Amino acid sequence: MKRIKLPAHIAVIMDGNGRWARRRFRPRAYGHRMGVQNMFKICGHAFNLGVRIVTVFALSAENLSRPKEEVDELFELFRSYFSKKRERMYELNVKICVLGDISVLPADIQDSIGEIERATAHLTSGLLNICVNYGARQELVRAVNKAVALGRVVDENSLESMVYTAGLPDPDLIIRTGGEIRLSNFLLYQAAYSELYFSGKMWPEFSKRDLEKAIENYSARDRRYGNVREE
Ligand code: IPE
Ligand code: IPE
Ligand code: MG
Repeated sequence: MKRIKLPAHIAVIMDGNGRWARRRFRPRAYGHRMGVQNMFKICGHAFNLGVRIVTVFALSAENLSRPKEEVDELFELFRSYFSKKRERMYELNVKICVLGDISVLPADIQDSIGEIERATAHLTSGLLNICVNYGARQELVRAVNKAVALGRVVDENSLESMVYTAGLPDPDLIIRTGGEIRLSNFLLYQAAYSELYFSGKMWPEFSKRDLEKAIENYSARDRRYGNVREE
């Protein structure tokens, strides 16, 4: 990779699993399985490159309205990776946090998530946030209600301290695969000044080189934050 300015925090909307599988005449669930494998590959590469925080969109709140069969298959995948195959998570050697309303998940999956979070809490070289049943609007409503319950005035600081990503730097770069040019209710508050990168590749086929290209593209951008830059 060329000399580049590395984003400290990358967020990824891992979209396109279903279409990737259907194009191969396979069930959508196969795409989700391959998508999880790719998540480990791409996150591992990001951390190896020196990225400190990676936030992945694994399941949106709205995804729970999909046909029950698909939702069940997704829950089964979570069960597998948060429980039986959790070694795969530990191999990343980073702190793992699950963001979103996990109270809708089966109790055993919630327990496994708690165990993984506890077991990795001491790891400081990197942080992987996995967004599950996450929606940005729901996150903001929850944050405001928390502030109201505490009798606090909502300002940018108190609101920031009530969202799931409290205390973390905002994502510098948000990558979406799958060809759609939208955020689909992902990190709406945190994305205020994120650089957005859209790839036509489906998530299971998004490669390490594709990640590097996204970072190179980010690196060449001029982040002005509303200010001016003297020529
Ligand atoms: C993203 O892939 C993964 C989830 C939303 C769980 P999709 O399942 O949305 O795949 P496409 O967009 O239908 O191809
Ligand atoms: C966004 O993808 C959610 C995840 C990748 C987890 P969707 O496939 O749900 O988004 P839409 O429906 O195309 O907006
Ligand atoms: Mg999709």
